[in-house]
Amino acid sequence: MRTPIVAANWKMHKTAGEAVGYFRRLLELVAPQPKVELVVFPPATLLSLAKKHLEGSPIGWGAQNAYPEPQGAFTGEVSVVQVADLGARYLICGHSERRHIFGEGDELIGRKVRAALDTGLVPILCVGELLEERQAGRAWEVVERQLSTALADVFLPSPERLVVAYEPVWAIGTGVPARPEDAQGMAARIRKWLEGRFGKPGRAIRIQYGGSVKPENAREFLGLPDIDGALVGGASLDPDKFWAIAQAALT
Ligand code: PGA
Repeated sequence: MRTPIVAANWKMHKTAGEAVGYFRRLLELVAPQPKVELVVFPPATLLSLAKKHLEGSPIGWGAQNAYPEPQGAFTGEVSVVQVADLGARYLICGHSERRHIFGEGDELIGRKVRAALDTGLVPILCVGELLEERQAGRAWEVVERQLSTALADVFLPSPERLVVAYEPVWAIGTGVPARPEDAQGMAARIRKWLEGRFGKPGRAIRIQYGGSVKPENAREFLGLPDIDGALVGGASLDPDKFWAIAQAALT
């Protein structure tokens, strides 16, 4: 049984005051024991506020990015240990904006995945192809390369310790989501690959879809057999919309 996981990736949005308003509203909306796991990813500067307001609630929080070394001379970076120290449970690894704006490659992303696991964080490994790669029929080839490099040398103690997010790059922030049948097809291939890599328990690893998910289309994705949740950007900035998406996972 895979519990759905719906995550809010705020990206580089919100001040402290806005974050507090968001946390208060989301706490009002969320039932005491929702059957869906909710995770908020504020910018690193707001993680301590997430801890202050969300600790003890059913809402988890995580970091959008972290450097894989525990400490050291890495000006401007925040380490996996530092985000774990603020109560983060999840770490997004290899988001397409990290790959394509900041030039992160599969090797570095793999180091982040391993460092997250070593630190007790649960990595959400993002994979997904560019539009030209899909048009050239290379979508699976690209996703498979991203999976096999990032998950090389990974020891996974249990399937709950990893989440994979399939986010086709062309669907992120564009308002144009993937077709549900394409998202399902890719998720099924990812699940099969995870089983090959980690054995039967690999089938229990949760797979999210991300890319222009909104309250109006969430049900189309969250009802698919191999999609266990969503990684939401734009629509997650409003707590009411985020909660509406999460509720789609329950119906
Ligand atoms: P979007 O972003 O929902 O705004 O398309 C998704 C993501 O970047 O994870």
